[in-house]
Amino acid sequence: MEFSELMQSRRSIRAFKSDDIPEELLSTLLNEALESPSSSNSQPFKVAIARGDTAKQIGAELTDKYRRSNAIMRKPLPLKLLSFITDDSMPDSDYKPILGKYPGIYQARRVATGKGLYQTIGIARDDYKARAANMEKNFSFFGAPVALFFFVDPRMTHTALVDLGIFMQSLMLGAKNKGLGTCAEGALGIWRGPLDKHFSIPSEFKLVCGMAIGYPEDDKVNQFRPDKMGLEDLLITPK
Ligand SMILES: Cc1cc2nc3c(=O)[nH]c(=O)nc-3n(C[C@H](O)[C@H](O)[C@H](O)COP(=O)(O)O)c2cc1C
Repeated sequence: MEFSELMQSRRSIRAFKSDDIPEELLSTLLNEALESPSSSNSQPFKVAIARGDTAKQIGAELTDKYRRSNAIMRKPLPLKLLSFITDDSMPDSDYKPILGKYPGIYQARRVATGKGLYQTIGIARDDYKARAANMEKNFSFFGAPVALFFFVDPRMTHTALVDLGIFMQSLMLGAKNKGLGTCAEGALGIWRGPLDKHFSIPSEFKLVCGMAIGYPEDDKVNQFRPDKMGLEDLLITPK
C-alpha cells in the first residue's frame, strides 16, 4: 500500500471476524515493528500475546471484572466504599487512569469522538445500558482472535512510553498494510491480575495498554472516522 494511503486509511477497528491470524504473519508484523526507533536503541518494552484459549480466558476474566466493577459503581456510597476494600474487581492497573473529566480541550475532543462513535453505531448518549454493553466489548477485544498486551520498564522513565508508542504505531500500520485491523486499547490496562495469571511477566515491567488485532468485520462501527486537529492547533505560535 502506498504510504500516504496507509496513513489516511488506518482507523481503529472495533468489530473483528473470528478468523485467526497465521502465526508467521503475526511474527512478521512484530519483527517489522521492531525496526522502530527507540531511545539509544534501548527498546524498553515487552509484549504478551494472547490467542486461542488464553485469549478467551483473559477476555472472560476481564469482562467479568468490568461487569462487577460497573455494578459497584452504581451502589450507594457506603456499599461502594466497602466493595473497594473487599472486591477483587477493583482496578489494579500499573498506570492510574484519569478519573472523571479530561483536562481542558481534551475533554471536548473526547466527547466529540464518543458522540461520533455512538452516532455511527446508533446508540443514544443517554442509553446507559447500550453504552455499557458497547464498552464491555473492549474486554473481549471486539471479537478479535488475538490480543496484545504492552509493558514497559519504568526505569527508562518517559522514554519507555515514547518508545512503546512508536512501536505500537509501527505495528498498527504494518497490520493495516497486510489487510489486518487493530484497536489500541487503554481499557486493557485497567486490570493486570488476569495477565499475571497467564504470563510470567518480569517483575520490573508495568502494563501500559493492549491492542486487539485481527481481520476487520464489515460493520458500521468500522466506518467511523473521528476528526483530527489541524495545524492551527498543532503548532505553537512563534514569539
Ligand atoms: C493508547 C491508546 C489507547 C486507546 N484505548 C482505547 C480503548 O480502550 N477503547 C477503544 O475503543 N479505543 C481506544 N483507543 C482508540 C482511540 O479511541 C482512537 O485511536 C482515536 O479515537 C482516534 O481514532 P483512529 O484510531 O480511528 O484514528 C486508544 C488509542 C490509543 C492510542
